[in-house]
Amino acid sequence: MSQPETGQIANVMQEERLFPPSEEFSAAARIGSREQYDALCERAKQDPEGFWGELGQQELHWFEPFTKVLEQQGSDFSWFPGGKTNVCYNCLDANIEAGNGDRTAIIWEGEPGDTRTLTYLGLHREVCKFANVLKSLGVGVGDVVSIYMPMTPELAIAMLACARIGAIHSVIFAGFSAGAIADRNNDAKAVVQLTSDGLFRRGKVLPLKETVDEALEQSATVGKCIVLRRAENEVSMTPGRDFWWHELMAEAAEDCPAEPLDSEADLFILYTSGSTGKPKGIRHAAAGYNLWTKMTFQWVFDWRPDDLYWCTADCGWITGHSYIVYGPLSCGATVFMYEGAPNHPAPDRFWEMIERHKLTILYTAPTAIRAFIKWGDEHVDKHDLSSLRLLGTVGEGINPEAWIWYHEKIGNKKCPIVDTWWQTETGGIMMSPLPGVTATKPGSCTTALPGVVPVILDESLMPVSPGQGGMLCIDKPWPGMLRGIWGDHDRYLDQYWAKVPGKYLTGDNARIDQDGYYWIMGRIDDVINVSGHRLSTIEVESAIVSHDSVAEAAAVGRPDDLKGQAIAVFVSVKGAEPSEELRQELKQHVRKEIGALAVPDDIRFTDALPKTRSGKIMRRLLRDIAAGKETAGDTSTLEDLSVLAKLQSNQE
Ligand code: PRX
Repeated sequence: MSQPETGQIANVMQEERLFPPSEEFSAAARIGSREQYDALCERAKQDPEGFWGELGQQELHWFEPFTKVLEQQGSDFSWFPGGKTNVCYNCLDANIEAGNGDRTAIIWEGEPGDTRTLTYLGLHREVCKFANVLKSLGVGVGDVVSIYMPMTPELAIAMLACARIGAIHSVIFAGFSAGAIADRNNDAKAVVQLTSDGLFRRGKVLPLKETVDEALEQSATVGKCIVLRRAENEVSMTPGRDFWWHELMAEAAEDCPAEPLDSEADLFILYTSGSTGKPKGIRHAAAGYNLWTKMTFQWVFDWRPDDLYWCTADCGWITGHSYIVYGPLSCGATVFMYEGAPNHPAPDRFWEMIERHKLTILYTAPTAIRAFIKWGDEHVDKHDLSSLRLLGTVGEGINPEAWIWYHEKIGNKKCPIVDTWWQTETGGIMMSPLPGVTATKPGSCTTALPGVVPVILDESLMPVSPGQGGMLCIDKPWPGMLRGIWGDHDRYLDQYWAKVPGKYLTGDNARIDQDGYYWIMGRIDDVINVSGHRLSTIEVESAIVSHDSVAEAAAVGRPDDLKGQAIAVFVSVKGAEPSEELRQELKQHVRKEIGALAVPDDIRFTDALPKTRSGKIMRRLLRDIAAGKETAGDTSTLEDLSVLAKLQSNQE
């Protein structure tokens, strides 16, 4: 493995297994043949504006037709300019007008086991009422509403109500601290806060309103706060500022026509962490985002009206926005929504719910899959999961071991797995297998969706050859793309468009294999450079995790006088005790799997890895720990700070 001068990244992961869809699955799929898929891709390539224009016309409702499909000025893009539409209308009214008002939109289950079901008509009614509540508090087009709520139907209702009246929602995951809420509220200049008294998590009540009270002391622009009663915990209500959700709803009228909005009107802001630690508010615009999430939901999940679809994400993340609320509902899908923890009251909660509700599609994260593996197969074996027909993953690369477990244990070897690559910024899925067409390879997100044109470039901006890693960019605009960073357009231009002129820079490394399949190699910042060889963290991690005693691993580089960087790996074990012997065994294992170059210099055992609240490993912190430095930077998104304290006190 020699290091090319252009700074390409060495590929050390070999995965040859291939899993084609069954004939039965392909025969019933919306897109069931390579010819059909190729024809779509070809049409999108030859005539992108015709392709998107036609879909925009067909799939969305227009109060006023658009006059153009795409307008571009430098790195600023407008999709469907001149048109007026409404995303909430497309999700609710359009389905009701199509005769599906009595279809179930949301089946919800709370952590304590309470359930609720809302039809499209029922959801429409609640959304209209809540839209009137917002209006009665003075919220109008372009106002920002900050949402810090549990995973209840009201969270979706609140998002849709904002969309209905042209308010812009900023959903903040209900695990963030008061300081993080205030930062986001101030950046967005939010005018109203939505929250609840509390939420249930592993049988306990987390007092959300208390956190919001503290946040609002530092959120000067927020004048009103609406509180949903969920956990019945004691809260303090500030007169004139705080209102009970149910009291306002009791007074609200049911009639609230959807506001015709410009195609490019901001639908929402969603804050995501940036490399500097200062969160950035990613802006998504109404029409393009709506079309993107609707199309990708149909293509990737092969959605059918009788599916019971479950995406386990929280609406506080982009996955919840795009694949719990906007994508599925604009298709008229029935969405299952769950409030709580996957291991409450027992580690079989997910499987128990899938069996009881007979869910057909499961879309979850690799971090959850690794947790299930660690908890033990007995929790899965107790349940009949035969209702499932399709599985998906999102959020990070899935190591082949976890993929195989998901395929065998959860999918009973019959469900295709869609490993979906995308980002908050892309609005929806960009690369993924099409389940009726693509033969999958464990760990690869396979190929691009119609209209998506990925390119992989080296440091001199030349395309890399197959097998070599480089910067993943997207060459052509797509309707779901971000439109900017709230209040900081220069940062948007600088971060996504400056380094590679004319192409969207994803910030990920990737490689393409001899069959044209894409393999994501982690964030550009996560590359380890050992003796001039650039290794991707995910490949070292995958090798370690393929050892029977390893539950999870995170690899980082630390400065090394001799080699430039040395590899440090943080490992949590399963079914074994940390020992010097195991440490040596793991080093041998990596030597065997990848080669001597990738053998870690340090292996540190830990009970758990520090993760963001969305489940991503915080390598930035691990890099500091491995280097023996004080951890610097923002830890506001860290899920469990005690993990960090333990890792620091375990320094070798
Ligand atoms: O590094 C990629 C990783 O997650 C990043 C996007 O994170 P976020 O904006 O929080 O959105 C997560 C939900 C879409 C990407 O830049 N990532 C996401 N999906 C995958 C992935 N890495 C590998 N494989 C995936 N399927």
